[in-house]
Amino acid sequence: MTDQPKATPYEQLGGQPAIAAVVERFYDLMDSDPAYAELRAIHAADLTPMRASLAGFLTGWAGGPRDWFEANPGKCMMSMHSGFPITAETAGQWVEAMAHAFADCDLADHPVGKLMNERFEMMASGLARTAAMAG
Ligand code: HEM
Repeated sequence: MTDQPKATPYEQLGGQPAIAAVVERFYDLMDSDPAYAELRAIHAADLTPMRASLAGFLTGWAGGPRDWFEANPGKCMMSMHSGFPITAETAGQWVEAMAHAFADCDLADHPVGKLMNERFEMMASGLARTAAMAG
């Protein structure tokens, strides 16, 4: 048996079209569903740059092309969120909106979708705890 390189999570999920669909749905939901109003309120009026940035981040993070990381050397979860009023409430809304977006894209039961959402929950609660400590 030859050693085949393992498919990355990015490839397993469906590559660029899958990431783009989830990210577009995520911001559309944030922009329109009152359940995410507090989360929407801490974002800029124009979500266009965020759509591109989150898609680029998730692409590299899931093992796809790393253009976002090359364009943003040193940027990390903590540095890109410092200065935003992240609370348990807005963190919960982020996680729920993202789970909702995966479900709307028929990726909620995908093994990689499940793993990503578990990690999002950990990252979001870490951000909320750090923000609470910073006061
Ligand atoms: C606690 C939950 C979270 C909240 C409340 C939150 C909120 C925000 C806000 C307010 C911004 C700036 C938006 C703007 O400039 O208009 C932002 C940027 C960003 N967030 Fe989050 N976020 C959360 C979790 C996450 C997670 C889990 C990820 C990645 C998996 C993520 C990835 C990003 C990226 C890539 C940017 C753009 C940074 C940039 O282009 O400078 N966020 N977030």
